[in-house]
Amino acid sequence: MKIYAHRGSSGTHPENTIAAFLDAAKLPIHGIELDVHMTKDGELVVIHDEKIDRTSNGKGFVQDMTLAELRNYDFGSWFSFKFKGELIPTLYEVLEIYLGTTHHLNIELKSDVINYPGMTEKVLDLVGNLNLDTRVVISSFNLDAIRTVKELAPHIETGALFMKPLKNPLDYVRSIPADALHIKARAALRPSMRQVINEGVIVRVFTINTIKYLSALKEIGVDAIFTDYPERLYEYMANNKN
Ligand code: G3P
Ligand code: MG
Repeated sequence: MKIYAHRGSSGTHPENTIAAFLDAAKLPIHGIELDVHMTKDGELVVIHDEKIDRTSNGKGFVQDMTLAELRNYDFGSWFSFKFKGELIPTLYEVLEIYLGTTHHLNIELKSDVINYPGMTEKVLDLVGNLNLDTRVVISSFNLDAIRTVKELAPHIETGALFMKPLKNPLDYVRSIPADALHIKARAALRPSMRQVINEGVIVRVFTINTIKYLSALKEIGVDAIFTDYPERLYEYMANNKN
């Protein structure tokens, strides 16, 4: 099973920061995951929440601030004083780290709560300009965004995100359509998921920070896990191959 560093190495570094992505870039793991929102002046930034309150010393919505305004805040100290001064990164700055590596890049469009006009197109433009089309999977809880990706760039892999178990996962993923399903462990472990995997749908599971479900997920053919502790899980899996 492959490993993706969820929001970078977010268990040991402030999530979705350059520090978290530089750490993940040094690891021999398959890929990384990041979350994208858009600023008031149309810049793509990497952050999980719609607001900056939880992961910075500031307050307010990303969509109400320009990139220059967002750069006034510290996105590291909330995690540890060691990371004081981390700034909110742009999507370009994060992708740039991986131009010299072979990591697969999961770009999650966070347009399921706020619908940022034009964000999907901007992400596709940037991915294309950096020649990363074959190295990305673009995912979202916003299935319209996934459809837009498939319409504008059918060759780019898409992943549909779900929080809850699905009744007919195969019909669903085909109807969107999406190439992959990104789901939680309890959804992945339902019996219907074997058929989905046997039909060729790539299933990736979030967020796996302990070894509890690893062997069961591997046994049913789950392609990859997202974890906040990529180094720890990599070492465990490398030492427990059966
Ligand atoms: O893409 C997997 C996972 O990141 C989805 O949930 O809330 O951590 O973005 P969230
Ligand atoms: Mg995410």
